[in-house]
Amino acid sequence: MEVEADNSPCGNPGMFVVGLPDKAVDESRSRVRAAIKNSGAHFPRGNVTINLAPADLKKSGCYYDLPIAVTCLQQSDQLKLSDWKNNLFVGELSLDGILRPVNGILSIAMMCKEKNIKNLFVPSANAAEAGLVDGINVFGVENLKQLIEHLKGESQISRYVSDNDDIFNIDHFEIDMAHVKGQDHAKRALEVAAAGSHNILMSGPPGSGKTMLAKATVTILPKMSLNESLEVTKMYSSAGLLPIEKPLIVARPFRSPHHTASGVALVGGGSWPRPGEISLAHRGVLFLDEFLEFPKTVLENLRQPLEDNVISVSRASGTINFPANFMLIAAMNPCPCGFSTDPDRECLCSPSQIMIYQKKVSGPLLDRIDLHVEVPRVDFKKLEHESIGESSDNIRMRVQLARNIQNQRFKNENIINNSEMNSELVNKYCVLDNQSKDLLRSAAENLHLSARSYYRILKVSRTIADLSGEKNILSLHLAEALQYRPTIE
Ligand SMILES: Nc1ncnc2c1ncn2[C@@H]1O[C@H](COP(=O)(O)OP(=O)(O)OP(=O)(O)O)[C@@H](O)[C@H]1O
Ligand SMILES: [Mg+2]
Repeated sequence: MEVEADNSPCGNPGMFVVGLPDKAVDESRSRVRAAIKNSGAHFPRGNVTINLAPADLKKSGCYYDLPIAVTCLQQSDQLKLSDWKNNLFVGELSLDGILRPVNGILSIAMMCKEKNIKNLFVPSANAAEAGLVDGINVFGVENLKQLIEHLKGESQISRYVSDNDDIFNIDHFEIDMAHVKGQDHAKRALEVAAAGSHNILMSGPPGSGKTMLAKATVTILPKMSLNESLEVTKMYSSAGLLPIEKPLIVARPFRSPHHTASGVALVGGGSWPRPGEISLAHRGVLFLDEFLEFPKTVLENLRQPLEDNVISVSRASGTINFPANFMLIAAMNPCPCGFSTDPDRECLCSPSQIMIYQKKVSGPLLDRIDLHVEVPRVDFKKLEHESIGESSDNIRMRVQLARNIQNQRFKNENIINNSEMNSELVNKYCVLDNQSKDLLRSAAENLHLSARSYYRILKVSRTIADLSGEKNILSLHLAEALQYRPTIE
């Protein structure tokens, strides 16, 4: 995007912004005029026309204050910058010329690198975020006066140097898998899910530890690579959710929207499209607690992103694709009272009530969930006596090893984990021996598996084999994957 200015000293006094500005951009006229005046420079006399190119794209936000101010100063010969194409300016101006931070700086810095723009001038509060991108010179600017002096060569703003050691400190987790007593079957299923980034649905009576298990899952996920961190940070930056003091997100996101959340809050949207919860969970966990309490129409929105790992949000202002490659963890009770699967408690629901309750999620959506696991009530004796379970650190080590195998496998495939394989890649990497083929054939007949389930079972088997460090999928891996399918498809 480029900012141009034309100044006619004899024309009607005033400043006009053209190129589809929104209200915030249009209002920059007053901010820029005051900021220039209060920075020791003078605002050009007569008529100033500012053109924001390309003219057919709607411009919104306060990003343009600084480039408009610099363009005005250049136009009126107060600044002489010879290599315009190598400099990018961004930031909101206060009336006294101080630069205020703006959202989405990381994306802007990445774009600079892509377009070979050498110098990026940003508000100083955004410098650490922009500094995450190497190969460009980032300058953190306090105010317009300082920038004018720098561009005139009267004083120097020093280049921002990022302190990566500090940035990569991971937060301490409050919860640990070791705190969850019993539930070994569910813990194993979560380990498999974490290893291959598969979706999982936990069902069980109230108070059995489903929510606790879901929250502990982020602690067994492997650390994010720098590329993953940048992807996640970019998303939070564009949503304006990046804390200033934390320019890079290093911990995998855990998003847990309430069941009253709207469809737009979940998948993204708005007149100026913003990422929703599924995109904020990108590379992390989307936890839908009380799964069946979400309105069916809201849940159905998940079908496309669960398949494609991306969500397209179309609005009058344009279509934006937000990445949404997340691991879905859903938790539910098996019936309205919660006790239909509990052998020791009487269920108060009628069969038709249970049926209506379970039908709240459509078959196609359930089909996209790879692992279905029962979380029964824990025996009181177990709660009292059971020694502390395996720590998250231990489980995470196994998950990391399985992910390393996947990284190696997919290094030329443009994906990073087993759950992302398309059917072609499944055929390539999930080859079964004869015994396993027979087992899968009879399971497909008995469980009436859909083609999608068939591929999903193979992907989960691949992850289970990776967890045991096996090159080939053996029938025991396939058998374990099959037991995570619901009995009725
Ligand atoms: N397996 C467990 N080990 C240790 N504590 C547990 C376990 N299960 C439940 N608890 C305790 O019970 C509390 C409630 O558990 P949690 O919220 O995870 O249950 P839930 O299965 O999600 O129930 P609901 O169906 O009502 O949402 C936890 O905060 C924890 O203190
Ligand atoms: Mg719960």
